This record gives sequence, C-alpha cells and structure tokens, in this order.
Amino acid sequence: MMSVVAFYSNHSNVELQNEWENRLKIYNPLINLVPLLSDQAEYAKTALLWKPPLERVKKLKNLQGLISLGQGVDHIIKDNIIDYEIPIVRIVDPFMAKSMSHWVVMSILNYIRDTFGYYTQQKNKIYKPRKEINFTTLKIAVYGIGAIGSVVAKDLKQLGFRVHGWSRTQKKISGINCFIGKDKFKYLLETCDIHICLLPLTIETKNIFNNSSFKIMKHGSCFINAGRGEQVVEEHLIENCKLGHISAAILDVYRKEPLPKESKLWDLKEIRIWPHVAAETNPETAAKQIANAIKHIENGKIPPNTIERKLGY
Ligand code: NAP
Ligand code: GLV
Repeated sequence: MMSVVAFYSNHSNVELQNEWENRLKIYNPLINLVPLLSDQAEYAKTALLWKPPLERVKKLKNLQGLISLGQGVDHIIKDNIIDYEIPIVRIVDPFMAKSMSHWVVMSILNYIRDTFGYYTQQKNKIYKPRKEINFTTLKIAVYGIGAIGSVVAKDLKQLGFRVHGWSRTQKKISGINCFIGKDKFKYLLETCDIHICLLPLTIETKNIFNNSSFKIMKHGSCFINAGRGEQVVEEHLIENCKLGHISAAILDVYRKEPLPKESKLWDLKEIRIWPHVAAETNPETAAKQIANAIKHIENGKIPPNTIERKLGY
C-alpha cells in the first residue's frame, strides 16, 4: 500500500519535495510525498514539515504523526495550534551537528584572528599585524549541550579552548565543565568571553539573552547565536554592540526570518549576518531516519526522536 506523506517546506517547493521523495524511496519505494496544501494530503498519515501553515495541518484528520524537517520543532508546536496528542518527531543527524561545529569554529577563529580587520587592511593595502587574542586565556560557554551543542563543545575543546556547557539536566562530558540552573547561567555569563547559544526555543529560553544577561557579560564579549532568533532581544543586543560591551555578534537566526531589510542588525560593524544556514538539513543523511519514523507512525508506534511535548523540545 502507498505511504502518503504530506510535505511542506517554507512554501511549496516542488524540486525539494522531489529530492526528498527520491531519497526516501531508497528506504521505502512506496513513499509518496504530496503537497500539504493539495487535496491528496487528506489521505496522509504522516506530515513532513518545515514552518508549515499550522491551521492546515490541524485540518488533516488522518494524520498520526508529524516530522520536523529540522532538529528544532518550535515551528510545529508554536502557539499551541497543534493542541492534540500526536507524536512530533525531530531529525537528529550527526552531519548537522558537525556542520554546526564547523560554523561555530569558523566564527570563533574569524573573531580571534580578526579576519575582517585583515580584509579591511587588504582593501586599503595595509600590511601590518593586528592584535591577536590569546586563545588559552579565553573561556567559552556553550548554552545547550544536546545533540548539536555537545559536538560543538567537544570540538572546541579539541582545538585547545577552555569550554563550559549549560543544560537543563546535568551532563557529564569529558573535558567540558558542565553546569545546570539559573545561578550557573549567571556565572557563565559573568565569567566567559565567548557565548554560544545552541538552545531550543521554549517558554524558558525565549528572550533569555536580554539586557540583563548582556549587561552581566564581561566587557568586550563575543556572542554567537545559532539557536533561535526569539531567544535574543535584538534591540538589547544592538544597544550593547553600540556601546562596545559586546564586541562581536555572529548571528544565524532572527526573530523574523528572512531578516527584514529595515532591521538595524544589518548595519552594525560588530555584527555578522548569516541567513539560517549554520547547519542545514541534508536529505542524503537524514532520509533513512525519516523513512523509519514514517514506518513507525503508520504502524501506530512511537518513533525514535519523538519530542517530549511538555518540555517543548
Ligand atoms: P537538543 O539535543 O534537544 O539539545 C538541546 C540542549 O538545550 C540540551 O542540552 C538541553 O538540556 C538544553 N536545554 C533545553 N532547555 C533548557 C533550559 N531551559 N535550560 C538549560 N538548558 C536547556 O537539541 P539540538 O538538536 O542540539 O538542537 C538545538 C537547537 O539548535 C534546535 O532546537 C534549533 O533551535 C537549533 N538549530 C539551529 C540550526 C541552524 O542552522 N541555525 C540547525 C539545527 C538546529 P538537556 O540536555 O538537559 O535536555
Ligand atoms: C534548523 O534550524 C533546525 O532546527 O534544524
């Protein structure tokens, strides 16, 4: 029997849908992706989704499970529109964790070696050394040390940095100082030089980087966000960058995406803008687990990487 799966990624994207279908058919030739907005979607038991119109998802009465086309699920559970019990599955892909790690490492190396300062010098034909930050004295905090953050933390440690991690439940990772709780969050803000947000968006983490958290960071701190835009109060970040209190901010995610042209974030020399590409979903590496999740859902079983709804991630 055909396995009908409703598909939506940002907006209807036929090429991407075909790519996913071809990848999924390697594991189950009977999988048939249909656009979420089409009439055929009424027959789907599973939906494969990225930032879908949730009212449409809610109307599909045959759905028995929802799969996020990313590691985060905030785009599915936001506003509690999907307010009924149904497995919500996320991707957990080592490829994505490594991609994120590469992006974070690149961002940190650009920061400490002042890559952009050298670009400017080149434009002006200036040939002289710039101040280099001593990496052995730097303390790095990784907020969120789950599937992605733990890989980032370990890779940074491997490069010789002093790394601290923060999570909801206590973790034990060799070489990483792991902390939990609000007091330790404050301690990390106060004592670290580079702050990396890799948290999921939940009620607890919304607006977590605001004026009070930026103010207690050391003067000249570097802030990196590849978690979610809504974890940062952007006006507060801008204010702290203008004061030089945050000396560099490397951002991949924003409260509103795509980042509106009128956003002040674009114009600050301290800020680097990336268009939500730090760790993109890869159909080639993720298809196997998605085909497996579809099979579980159709058999009425709970797939691996089903989120705990009450935690919000
Ligand atoms: P994950 O495995 O669920 O890890 C989340 C981490 O955050 C865990 O360590 C968790 O603690 C911690 N956490 C959650 N709530 C917390 C709280 N209230 N206080 C302290 N720590 C808390 O998620 P993941 O797969 O690593 O992905 C993390 C996020 O990265 C995603 O949700 C998404 O927003 C973002 N992301 C971005 C991109 C991109 O391209 N920019 C790509 C992929 C993912 P526990 O370990 O105790 O549960
Ligand atoms: C991307 O942001 C993801 O959640 O996978």
